[in-house]
Amino acid sequence: MAHPARVGILGTGVYVPERVLTNAELEKLVDTSDQWIRERTGIRERRIIGPEETVATMAAAAARQALENSGIEPGQLSHIIVATNSPDYLYPAVAIRVQDALGLNGSLGAFDLQAGCSGFNYALYLAERLVAADGRPVLVIGSDANSRFTDWRDRSTCVLFGDGAGAVVAGPVAQGGILASFVASSLNMKLYCETEFNAEVSPFLPRQETTRRHYIYMDGPEIFKFAVNAVKEAIRRISEMSGIPREEFDYLIIHQANNRILEAAARFAKVPMEKLYVNVDRYGNTSAASVPLALHEAVLSGHIKPGDKVLLCSFGAGVTWAAALLEWSG
Ligand code: UT7
Repeated sequence: MAHPARVGILGTGVYVPERVLTNAELEKLVDTSDQWIRERTGIRERRIIGPEETVATMAAAAARQALENSGIEPGQLSHIIVATNSPDYLYPAVAIRVQDALGLNGSLGAFDLQAGCSGFNYALYLAERLVAADGRPVLVIGSDANSRFTDWRDRSTCVLFGDGAGAVVAGPVAQGGILASFVASSLNMKLYCETEFNAEVSPFLPRQETTRRHYIYMDGPEIFKFAVNAVKEAIRRISEMSGIPREEFDYLIIHQANNRILEAAARFAKVPMEKLYVNVDRYGNTSAASVPLALHEAVLSGHIKPGDKVLLCSFGAGVTWAAALLEWSG
């Protein structure tokens, strides 16, 4: 196939678990209140993965919907990339379980990518380059089960996160497509989750006390400051790269971590809040699933129309931040 002039998004899909966890339920778990959570974050409820579900089953469900909406047969794909921070296994990769679920064993390369809550943007950035190389579509998925790594005794983090998956098929487009994109990272240990390893039984390690470090740890106020600055830098940088002033962005899909961060982004971009999709109220922070989940809903509800210039922007652990500006192909 000839190299495409442009790479765009051909279709989107999502999956969220059925179980809804409300702020009222959290009031019974930790010393918090519905009012505090809504005022400080905008979150009203989030979804929690069921016992029979995995990061891979959520990813596969979102992937099937994205393939259907894009009119692409699984056999046409060249790669599957899953962005996740909560893989079901250290190995094999979630993406290979998705490959298996789609009946594609042995026919393509599937791998995971870990870049905090910016993972979907990172995967899309890579897919853009893969599609540009040979014109074949790439399945890009963000899937996270944060509830499995949440310390349900820690009120400063347990009210924030939720589970879910979002997927897109990236492929060649005749018009529009990705106009500019970048990824960035810098070491910052204000947000981390340690690997749980068996220090108790290894003869080569000093005996360790059981720690709670394999739960999500976040210095909220520090990460808040980073997040607001990261979004501002992303908007400035994408505007410069594309030559399109930020006021001319038609729609903004920003990582759904906190409504106050979204409001700061809107102020900086000089666009009204109506131009930002908000579903943090219903899902909380779904990490790598956040941007494709919001994108899918924004497209489905008619907020994004063909020809619109749409910013996809995320930030998270690493720290990482990344963005892409697309002209929506429809
Ligand atoms: O996806 C990765 C990126 N993540 C983010 O972008 C998250 C960025 N951070 C944030 O969104 C906010 O910092 C939080 C929502 C996490 C926290 O909001 P904040 O306004 O920065 O609150 P804070 O951490 O400064 O805490 C203010 C007060 C403290 O009490 P004192 O010391 O003032 O008495 C906390 O102990 O609120 C208290 N607090 C709570 N109270 C009720 C912290 N968590 C809770 C809670 N319920 N769940």
